Amino acid sequence: MKAVVYDTYGAPDVLRVEEVPRPVPKDDEVMVKVRAVAVTRGDCATREANRRSGPAISFLSRLVSGLRRPKHRILGTEFAGEVEAAGAAVAEFAVGDQVFGTTGLKFGAHAECLSIRVSARIAHMPAGMSFEEAAPICDGALNALTCLKQVDLRKGRRILIYGASGAIGTAGVQLAKYFGADVTAACNTKNVELVRSLGADRVIDYTREDFTKNGQTYDVILDAVGKLSFGRSRSSLKPSGIFLPTDGLANLMWALLTSRTRGKKVLFQIPPRQTTQDVRFLKELVEGGKYRPVIDRRYPLEDVIEATRYVETEQKTGNVVLTVSSAQRLA
Ligand SMILES: NC(=O)c1ccc[n+]([C@@H]2O[C@H](COP(=O)([O-])OP(=O)(O)OC[C@H]3O[C@@H](n4cnc5c(N)ncnc54)[C@H](OP(=O)(O)O)[C@@H]3O)[C@@H](O)[C@H]2O)c1
Repeated sequence: MKAVVYDTYGAPDVLRVEEVPRPVPKDDEVMVKVRAVAVTRGDCATREANRRSGPAISFLSRLVSGLRRPKHRILGTEFAGEVEAAGAAVAEFAVGDQVFGTTGLKFGAHAECLSIRVSARIAHMPAGMSFEEAAPICDGALNALTCLKQVDLRKGRRILIYGASGAIGTAGVQLAKYFGADVTAACNTKNVELVRSLGADRVIDYTREDFTKNGQTYDVILDAVGKLSFGRSRSSLKPSGIFLPTDGLANLMWALLTSRTRGKKVLFQIPPRQTTQDVRFLKELVEGGKYRPVIDRRYPLEDVIEATRYVETEQKTGNVVLTVSSAQRLA
């Protein structure tokens, strides 16, 4: 089968499309014929061994992904496709079922086929979606859900979502609205209308207004792009407000320090606990019209380097998708 592989950490051009053996599903796994897959910030960070985040993080990244060279030659996590084979113990899925999910730290989705345990993060595709639409459902949304489940969001609670135009941000706005919160979203001028259309009650254009200086306070601030700090957000939090980061080692320290004190807190779950139930929950939200992943650009699998370069600009709006096979979903 065709797959995007890499054998050394580095810039996007370490990636190449190559013929590799197809995975063989174990008894508790399905083999999925991948139709579409997302290119994520996680793929980029792993491919360059997190060099942009400094030597300490890069070392930790290599401990997980392979010290000298990548343990997993194939990147890619969020996928949609069809079950092509099922292990002997699999009862939940049958050959031909259309599925989506994420392979998480096992990667392997930038390929024509992948194997995944049925107890992992996989579910049947929501009705009425194409593979390209379904592939990025989990990117950003699982992370946003993990963050938001830590806080008591409901009607009357005010949340600020900073960086509301990325994968986590666009999902975060929709999920926070679903939970009933009053949502203020901060993004760049070009994304104001999009973010409003996702349900934000108020949108702050961060190029024109500094949210820390407008006197507004929130029960929760979600930093969806890793560009804020607890220190900068503190004055915009209510007395027992919560800061939810999505990135940054310093936030672990803040989470520890604030866990034993009264008042404003940082909650940062590492590693994030994401379950099959979370994936099914997202499917139900999609089917109920409460959540839809935003797709910025689509590329064929062969253009993975170009797609990756775009994701690395840190300017994508929502998600970037690779089409692995052009077959469209049957109704
Ligand atoms: N995606 C995941 O599931 C996941 C999981 C774990 C950790 N993370 C981490 O979480 C962070 C966000 O991930 P993501 O996938 O959501 O990122 P993303 O989709 O690449 O975010 C891109 C968006 O961020 C906005 N942005 C860039 N700089 C900004 C700034 N200074 N202020 C406000 N917005 C800014 C960009 O719009 P403008 O530049 O036009 O404003 C763009 O729309 C990353 O650090 C990533 O490593 C992501």
